[in-house]
Amino acid sequence: MSDFELTKEQLPVHIGIIMDGNGRWAKKRRLPRTAGHTQGAKVFKRTVQDCRKLGIKNATFYAFSTENWKRPREEVEAIMKLLIQYLDDIKAFSKENVRIIFPGDKSVFPDNIKNRLIEIEQTSLNNDGFNLLVALNYGGRDEIVNAAKNIAKDYKEGIIGDIDSISEQQFENYLYTKGIPNVDLMVRPSGEMRLSNFLIWQCAYAEFVFMDVLWPDFTMEDLTFACREYAKRNRRFGGV
Ligand code: IPE
Ligand code: IPE
Ligand code: MG
Repeated sequence: MSDFELTKEQLPVHIGIIMDGNGRWAKKRRLPRTAGHTQGAKVFKRTVQDCRKLGIKNATFYAFSTENWKRPREEVEAIMKLLIQYLDDIKAFSKENVRIIFPGDKSVFPDNIKNRLIEIEQTSLNNDGFNLLVALNYGGRDEIVNAAKNIAKDYKEGIIGDIDSISEQQFENYLYTKGIPNVDLMVRPSGEMRLSNFLIWQCAYAEFVFMDVLWPDFTMEDLTFACREYAKRNRRFGGV
């Protein structure tokens, strides 16, 4: 690993992070899986600050997928409890000019949580220092189907006049990540080499960095390593 300085131009504008490996981290220590989630949540909070320190402007963290409900009830409950606990910390970022967005289908959450998520999004709406996206009950396929449904509704109501006029850019306005640039760099710790339904539209031309480190062990060094890997890539977007 070389340690050249990363210039602003070399950094990803939007980084995606799949916070994976909490369970294995706990297992290695003979701890319950939930202990891994607790440690993972701490690392999440620190990594948000690390992204900001580096000068990245947009970061999306995968916290809970539409598929994660398949887990044992006790684990899902523990993760939800942790999420609720962390909402105050997440909201606190809004005092530092951070805009907060929770991409995902909020409709499954009880009203008190749903309203709190919406309230945090509203409070931070005009902040422009950093966009922090925390994906909750997020699925890339769900996001695209949801967009298609809302486009159909808008067509029916006459908001969209001509179906043939719908462009990729317009379609993006119906995604949970509306207004946020597409992903430049997707980082997945834990050794798995897959997207697991995360930001599938937004990653069409993303660079991928897969790392063996487990999420609760992820450090600023790992983040800069991923960014250096990204800086070395030759992105062509189909050109030459
Ligand atoms: C990621 O860690 C956390 C969530 C999916 C909520 P895992 O719980 O998937 O950890 P592993 O993959 O089992 O090690
Ligand atoms: C992806 O991790 C989801 C989150 C990190 C929130 P998973 O652990 O759920 O993914 P799979 O099951 O290994 O694909
Ligand atoms: Mg996992």
